[in-house]
Amino acid sequence: MHTEACIFDLDGVIVDTAKYHYLAWKRLADKLEIRFTETDNERLKGVSRMDSLEIILGLGEKQLGKGIKQKYATLKNAWYIDYINRMTPEEILPGSLEFIKELKSAGIKVVIGSASKNTPLILEKVGLLKVFDAVADGNTVEKTKPDPEVFIKAAELVNVDPAGCVVFEDAVAGIQAALNAGMKCIGVGSPGILKEAHYVIKGLHEMNLEKLKTIEKEFLK
Ligand code: G6P
Ligand code: MG
Repeated sequence: MHTEACIFDLDGVIVDTAKYHYLAWKRLADKLEIRFTETDNERLKGVSRMDSLEIILGLGEKQLGKGIKQKYATLKNAWYIDYINRMTPEEILPGSLEFIKELKSAGIKVVIGSASKNTPLILEKVGLLKVFDAVADGNTVEKTKPDPEVFIKAAELVNVDPAGCVVFEDAVAGIQAALNAGMKCIGVGSPGILKEAHYVIKGLHEMNLEKLKTIEKEFLK
C-alpha cells in the first residue's frame, strides 16, 4: 500500500482541546446539578456536540425538550469558544507541524477530518489555516463518527481513493469511522483503548515519513 493522503482528526491529535471541552461541559453540568468527571469526559471524545449533551443528560438521568437542549448546547459552545479564542500556535501538539511539512514535501496530501464545528476557528488561532490541503469538519458533514462520512469527504476533497488514505485518530468512534471508510488507521493514544486501530502511537512526535513507510509495510498491508 502506498499512502497518498494523511487525514488528521483535530481535537486530541493536532491540538489538545479536550481540556477546554471538559471545562465548558463541566460548567454546564454543574449548572444542571449533574455529576461529571474527567473520566466521563473520555466518552465525549469524537462525539458531536448534541450527542455529548445527551451523554451528560444521561449521566444525570435528565430528559429535556429539544429547544432547551439547543439552548444549553449553544451556551456550552459560547464558554468553549472563550477558551479557544485564547489559543496560540504554542498549543499545536509536539511533532505535528514537522510531520505535516514532511508529508507535504513528499507530495502526500494532508487533510483535516474533524467532527468539530469550531475547526476553522481553532485552525486560525493556532496558525494552521493555510497548512492543510483541505478541511472536512462538522460544518460540512451531517453524520457523526463512527459514520465514515467525514473521512470520505476528506478523501474526496483531495481526490484520493479511501484505500490510499491513512487516518490519525484519538477517539474510538473515529477509528471505527476510518475503518468504515475503508481506510487505514493509526490510533493516537493508548493501545489498550484504541485496540481496533492498525497501529497505535502516543502522539505525532513519534511520527516521521520513514516511520510511516515502515508502519505501512508491516501493519497497513
Ligand atoms: C470533536 C471532539 C468532541 C466534540 C466534537 C464537536 O470530535 O473530540 O469532543 O464534541 O468535536 O465539537 P464542536 O466544537 O462542534 O462542539
Ligand atoms: Mg479527537
